[in-house]
Amino acid sequence: MSERIFNFSAGPAVLPVPVLEEAQRDMLSLPGVGMSVMEMSHRSKTFDEIIGKANEGLRDLLGIPDNYHVLFLQGGASLQFSMVPMNFLPADGTADYIITGSWGKKALKEAKRVGSINVAATMADGGFTRVPGQDELNLSPQARYVHITTNETIEGVEWKQEPDVNDVPLVADASSDILSHAISIEKYGLIYAGAQKNMGPSGVTLVIVRDDLLKRIPEGLHTMLDYRTHVENKSLYNTPNTWGIYIISLVCKWVKDKGGLAVMQRENEEKARLLYDAIDASGFYRGHADADSRSIMNVTYRLPSEELEKKFTSEATAQGLDGLKGHRSVGGIRASIYNAFPLEGVTALVSFMKEFERKNG
Ligand SMILES: Cc1ncc(COP(=O)(O)O)c(C=O)c1O
Repeated sequence: MSERIFNFSAGPAVLPVPVLEEAQRDMLSLPGVGMSVMEMSHRSKTFDEIIGKANEGLRDLLGIPDNYHVLFLQGGASLQFSMVPMNFLPADGTADYIITGSWGKKALKEAKRVGSINVAATMADGGFTRVPGQDELNLSPQARYVHITTNETIEGVEWKQEPDVNDVPLVADASSDILSHAISIEKYGLIYAGAQKNMGPSGVTLVIVRDDLLKRIPEGLHTMLDYRTHVENKSLYNTPNTWGIYIISLVCKWVKDKGGLAVMQRENEEKARLLYDAIDASGFYRGHADADSRSIMNVTYRLPSEELEKKFTSEATAQGLDGLKGHRSVGGIRASIYNAFPLEGVTALVSFMKEFERKNG
């Protein structure tokens, strides 16, 4: 098969075609360099320019102020579940965690190994269908940081506005909605995100960290687990994922050429609206998340039975609509519609849903 299908995978996920084409064109030899990005030293002048472009591209798109560092690490967002508390939760301190889904639970599990945690809110009882309101938060005044997951990829639940945490640093796992809309970086102490949804391939993790927080890091951490190592060495302490960083630089250029995050947000909202409207208009499909917490990246819904869900995903796959099976932990359907996912794919899914309901409803 040489034709591309509509790829609704939650991650690794669809990348912009112009990015893939450029990477393919320059695979054997980056113009004027005579080798591919994968084959060159991470200490070469060419790679220095590439990592510089990725850094500047992200700074420009997200409006990252000068007092924040941009790091390209490895170990996935999952390693950040540990690095955040190891660096910022001292033995005698407490951190607040707000749990709105499965990834927040995983972050919490690792943080508990490090120190004392206050669960400021958990939406588990309702089955993770929404984010809490400000009045539902039980924040501790002495917290070293407050951790949220801006978009829960599995449940399809997204914060529309950051919680108010006063002067406590807000730490966010933004793996599945980074670059999908504009955010105020100043509201955060640290943001981390695996690249493999909206930024590039797997194997590279973005960390954006405010400079003054580095002073709070305890001595004695393992070198690779200490954010200061990566700040001081500009993400080149050891060999980074050079290819991943290269693709991020191309994705940033693609987003910028399209008009930046305001345009991305408009397009993402439009795509999500089409799908949620189709769900709401039917008595057959049932959306998982409450309307005001619905993700614009991962649209989650159920059919009347698991049997029908199985039939739905297998028939959809046969029609070139791939990756719609919900995460194994919650079941149902999940349509991941990241930045690079085309509008035509969403309209194709909506038509398929209508036809499927007509035949099986
Ligand atoms: C919100 C969120 N956090 C963390 C992770 C884990 O990321 P990684 O596989 O990069 O460790 C994922 C992966 O899908 C995710 O969606």
